Amino acid sequence: MEIKKIDHIGIAVKCIEDASKFYSNILNLKISEPIEVKAQEVKVAFMEIGGIKLELLEPLGEDSPVARFLQKKGQGLHHLCFLVDDIEFALRRLKENNVRLVDQFPRIGATRKRIAFLHPESSSGVLIELKEA
Ligand code: CO
Repeated sequence: MEIKKIDHIGIAVKCIEDASKFYSNILNLKISEPIEVKAQEVKVAFMEIGGIKLELLEPLGEDSPVARFLQKKGQGLHHLCFLVDDIEFALRRLKENNVRLVDQFPRIGATRKRIAFLHPESSSGVLIELKEA
């Protein structure tokens, strides 16, 4: 399995609009129009810094995994996303090595690419998302 680069860093926020006041107005980063990802019960918006994106994640409802994250840990770093060229191969390798997965199979993420999350238990407490290039 080859990890190409960090695709993006996810940040859990209560409200994208409030968060943009800092990221957009003060840091002058350009924020994409927020999109709703119903399957994951989140609204997301992206900013780009030198080829790496920041992803702001706002929960769409109380049952959203991001809502539960905010309740437990508050706003802040949520996940790292690694770009891989073959996500099926990567998941197979991880399973062979008994890595705990959140997603057993790839699913379609916010940017229409195939993604899968790994459980933080196997990665020293960091939630990791794999995204297919
Ligand atoms: Co992400």
